[in-house]
Amino acid sequence: MKSIICSEAPAKIILFGEHFVVRGKPAIATAVNLYARVYVKESNRHLFESKQLGEKVDLDKQSIPERYKQFQYVYRRVVELAGKNRGFYIVIDSQIPLAAGMGSSASTIVAFTHALLKYYGVEPELELVNRIAYDAEKIVHGKPSGIDNTVATYGGVLYYKQGYMERLDIKWPSDLYLVVIDTGIKRSTGKVVSDVLQLYKKYSQILSLVYDAAEKLVEIARIKLLNGDFLSLGELASINHGLLSAIGVSIAEVEEAVHLLRKLGALGSKVSGAGRGGIVYGFFRGEPSRILEGIPTKYKGYVVKPVREGVRSCRDMYKY
Ligand code: PMV
Repeated sequence: MKSIICSEAPAKIILFGEHFVVRGKPAIATAVNLYARVYVKESNRHLFESKQLGEKVDLDKQSIPERYKQFQYVYRRVVELAGKNRGFYIVIDSQIPLAAGMGSSASTIVAFTHALLKYYGVEPELELVNRIAYDAEKIVHGKPSGIDNTVATYGGVLYYKQGYMERLDIKWPSDLYLVVIDTGIKRSTGKVVSDVLQLYKKYSQILSLVYDAAEKLVEIARIKLLNGDFLSLGELASINHGLLSAIGVSIAEVEEAVHLLRKLGALGSKVSGAGRGGIVYGFFRGEPSRILEGIPTKYKGYVVKPVREGVRSCRDMYKY
């Protein structure tokens, strides 16, 4: 059967400020050129298939695996909004590593919401897509800051603080890359976030100072980005990594990957996203394929670039 709707949303990398953002500090994230895609086909049921997980789920069933509850939530909300129901067969196909810190869950739910709104004849305005996706993210993550769904929805480089966002107009140099290493260690964002919040509660007198340092760092990074001072960004990334280690989200494997990027010539590197595994990134100038050659096969390496556009209808639907 032909796909009749296809939407795609970019992955994100938190450049600076993750975790601290959960307690109201600012963060900066960028959308990057890896995509989650959602295809919607006509059907007489409400089925959902994940290519990456190799699973099919009936969204009309009351008891479905926890990880699909957010999709069921979006489906019900969109049906309510549209005031009509219509059968579908949905296929999710994603280039974004799962549960690694690149926002795969948010990008997927954003693309899913966009595609479903279109399928039900509701204009997929970005503000609406973002709101529904955020409510859906809450089902999985408990207390998300909202940065993941916001970047997947709007794209670009965003300064984000408690629901307020500013799009940073950045002229990214053509020879500046982000090299990402996926350590392959999966973790639950919700669990890491709640451990960090617990630690904060216990040592708030110390950690409030670390949070203030993170805030200052993000404010300086915002200015450096706007001024095109990319050398300083590398240094700030490394300092930010130190602050993330202080709140307990780095582990031996993460340290190894962060230091590997520095050995390979990164201007600076850090863990990104929830940590305790997942991804680390480094800023690099020069030929990226040479850097990938230096990454051992136990890891997966990606060279990515920021993209200005967020969720959209697929550009090359049949080529994917
Ligand atoms: O690892 P990810 O992609 O789920 O990112 C989590 C980012 C945190 O700041 C740790 C949590 C949040 O909700 O902002």
